[in-house]
Amino acid sequence: MCLAAMRTITYNPEIPAVEMIDQRQLPAKLKLIQLNDLEQVIDAIKDMAVRGAPAIGITAAFGLALAGRVSGADTFSTWEADIRNAAKRLMDARPTAVNLRWAINRILGIIASMEGVAIGAAQNQVDQYTQMMADEDVEINRRMAQYGAALLKHHASVIHHCNTGALAAVDYGTALGVIRYAHESGKTIHVLVDETRPRLQGSRLTAWELEQYGINYDIIVDSAAGFFLQRQEVDAVLVGADRIAANGDVVNKIGTYPLALAAKASSVPFYCVAPHSTFDLEIAEGKDIPIEERAVSEVTSLQLHDRKVTPEGASARNPAFDLTPNHLITTFVTEFGLIHPPYKENIPSTFQEANS
Ligand code: MRU
Repeated sequence: MCLAAMRTITYNPEIPAVEMIDQRQLPAKLKLIQLNDLEQVIDAIKDMAVRGAPAIGITAAFGLALAGRVSGADTFSTWEADIRNAAKRLMDARPTAVNLRWAINRILGIIASMEGVAIGAAQNQVDQYTQMMADEDVEINRRMAQYGAALLKHHASVIHHCNTGALAAVDYGTALGVIRYAHESGKTIHVLVDETRPRLQGSRLTAWELEQYGINYDIIVDSAAGFFLQRQEVDAVLVGADRIAANGDVVNKIGTYPLALAAKASSVPFYCVAPHSTFDLEIAEGKDIPIEERAVSEVTSLQLHDRKVTPEGASARNPAFDLTPNHLITTFVTEFGLIHPPYKENIPSTFQEANS
């Protein structure tokens, strides 16, 4: 199995099952897991077998298709009720990435337009629609990658936070997709990989992906980013997002905000790469975006030389995301092109134009 030749999440209606790379096992093992019911899909999202905003969205869509397949309903209205219940449960699996809600609402929209369709036909339509969403995700990432790669010069050194690669999407990725495309088009890129505590998406997942693509990198502890920025050893910072408010405030993996502050202080461009599905135009400012706080055991159970790094019973806090204010973002890279400030005007107008 090789990452470059596969999708990280797939759905097979014939089994029926959702299949995905179990990201908890990486980098030690590239292992696929098969999820056969809604419960397993919800657990996979909560426990981060699958993570990353676009990946969570498509997993939820596949989860609804699966719920529709395994439903024992014998009328359309009970089948629809089963899907709506599944949607409610999935919606709560993780609160911050808006792609989850976006994907679920798309499926509910399709079902709402199906009144009177036989259950078998309705199941087929949902299955096909979710496959189309997965294809679209890959296509969108490739478009963003091309727009973003134009911002990177040959021999660029970049900092990347968290994991935004193929693992965080169906394939190719967002911010890491930009780096990958620049590399594939012949530019030499060096990546400083933030390790991204506490779940280490950087050192476990991003470094593993970069190994697969043959891109040069060095892992750094999160707190070293300012050091390299201050010394002007970095040409750009690239991140993804979990939710972006209408004014361009970005909620992304914890540690993004201090990284953006350090980039600003060192006059290094800070690029946020995200598809339209990550923009939440119903939220005016980032302060209203819900921030997930995860189990403190993610912080306290860390080990060094086989020993816990915290005292027994230690108290901790574990916010999974932080808010980067819009004035710290140099440019957004989307599938509709680049968005520059002023974001309050340019974000809504970009998406209005794209929809017209
Ligand atoms: O907690 P995670 O690993 O799901 O957080 C992921 C991130 O913060 C990513 O940067 C974001 O989802 C963009 S992924 C293309």
